[in-house]
Amino acid sequence: MQSSKAFDHLWMPFTSWQDAIDYPPLVIKRASGIHLYDRDDKSYIDGTGSWWVSLFGHGHPRITAAVRKQLEQVEHVMMAGCITEPTLHLTELLASILPGVMSRIFLSDNGSTAVEVALKMALQYHALTGCGNRTRFIALGGGYHGDTLGAMTVGSIPRYHALFHDRFKKALYTDPPYCYRCPCGKEPGSCAAQCMDSLEKLLDEYHSSVAAFIFEPMAQGAVGMRIYPAVVLERCFALCKKFGILTIADEVAMGFGRTGKMFACEHAHVSPDIMCLAKGLTGGYLPLAATVVNKTIFDAFKGDAFSNRTFEHGHTFTGNALASAAACASLELLREYDIPASLGARSSQLSKLLRTFYRYDIVGDVRTLGMVGAIELVADRATKKRLPARERIPFTICRNARAKGLLIRPIGDVIYFMLPYLTTEEQLDRVVAITHEAFKETIDEQLPHQ
Ligand SMILES: Cc1ncc(COP(=O)(O)O)c(C=O)c1O
Repeated sequence: MQSSKAFDHLWMPFTSWQDAIDYPPLVIKRASGIHLYDRDDKSYIDGTGSWWVSLFGHGHPRITAAVRKQLEQVEHVMMAGCITEPTLHLTELLASILPGVMSRIFLSDNGSTAVEVALKMALQYHALTGCGNRTRFIALGGGYHGDTLGAMTVGSIPRYHALFHDRFKKALYTDPPYCYRCPCGKEPGSCAAQCMDSLEKLLDEYHSSVAAFIFEPMAQGAVGMRIYPAVVLERCFALCKKFGILTIADEVAMGFGRTGKMFACEHAHVSPDIMCLAKGLTGGYLPLAATVVNKTIFDAFKGDAFSNRTFEHGHTFTGNALASAAACASLELLREYDIPASLGARSSQLSKLLRTFYRYDIVGDVRTLGMVGAIELVADRATKKRLPARERIPFTICRNARAKGLLIRPIGDVIYFMLPYLTTEEQLDRVVAITHEAFKETIDEQLPHQ
C-alpha cells in the first residue's frame, strides 16, 4: 500500500490541485465486468465505462485472451515497412462494418490524434486538389474533439478552450444544437433544425475558404451529453453537400453502437467524408484510434515518393500489435453480441428509469439515446436557471454515489451514464437505485427546502 506521499508527484487530469488533495483518487486494484475494486476490495460500478471506452466491461475473457496471446508473439513493431497480423486483420474487420464508402483506415493512438489526423488530411486534400486556400474549419457549437492544440481549435467549450483560442487559433462555430436550451426557442415537436441556419450562414459567407465541417454526430459528449435529433444531422450533411464542403464526423465517443446504431451518422443515413474513431475501438483495453476516409479523399494522396502527395504523419505506437489484437477481439464481440440491435431492451430500460428523476425539482432535463443517459440539473425547472456553481451539487451527488458503490462523474450540471453494453437488467436497476439515494442525500443536505 502506498504512503500518503504517494500522491506528491501526481498531476491528475481535469482536476484542480485542491480537489486532488481533498479527494484523492481511488486506487483500483482489479476489475471484472462492470465492477472496479479498490485496494480494500470495495466494489464500484463503473457508471461511465471508464471515460466511455468500456463496451463489454472489464476483463472480458475474449479480449484478455487475445491480448495475452499477442503478447506472447510480438508486442509492438514500427508501422513503417512492417505491420503485424492483428493490425492487418483489424483493418479488414473495421472496413466490414464501416458505413457506405468509407474504405481507408489510418491508425493512431487516441481520440485527439484521430482528430488531428482528420484535420491535417482535410487541409492536405485541398492542397493536393488545387484548393490550398481552403484552410478554415467550421465546427458545431459546443463541440469537443480532444485536448491537443489542433483538436482544441475546433472545440468550443469555454472552460477547456477559451484560454487557448485566445492564444492560438479557433474555428468558425455554428449555434450549439442544445435542445434543452434551444438557441432558436423551438420545442422538440417543432424543430426543423433551425439552429443550423447558423451553419448555412457561415457556409454562405466562407464556403470557398472552408476545409471541412467537423461535428460530433447525434450527441455532444464532453459539453454535457447533449443529444440532438437526426434532423439536425441531416441538415448539416445537406448543407455541406450543397456547398461542396467535406464532412468530418467525430465518432470517437459515440461510435461502435453507443447511440443505438453502429455509427451515430447512420441516424441520418449519410456517410461522412472522414470519420474519427477511438475509445471503444479496443473495447476499452488499450489506446488505439482510426481516422477513416472515403475513396475520393484517399485517391488524392496517391502518388510516388516524389509526388509530394504522401501523408507525412505517424505516431510511434501507430498500429500497436497489442491494441490491434484487443480491437479485433472487440469488433468480433460486437458482431457476436449483435450490437447495436441487442441493446434495445437495455436502452429502453435506461430511458424509462432515468425519467423517474423528474420527481426532483432540481432535474430540468432527462435525455437518452441508445446507451447514453444524462440528467441535467437546474436551480429552477420553470426558468431553467442554472445551479449555483460554487455549491457543487452535481459533484456532491457523484461523491455520495461513490460512497454507495457507483462511480459516476458530472460534466458541469449534468449527471450521466455510459454503462458497458453487457450491463444486466438488475445491474442497471442497481445503478439507478444508488443514484436516487445519492440525489436524496444531497438534496436533504444541501437543498433541504426542496
Ligand atoms: C468526441 C470526442 N472526440 C475526441 C475526443 C478525444 O479523445 P482522447 O481523450 O482519446 O484524446 C473525445 C474525448 O472525450 C471525444 O469525446
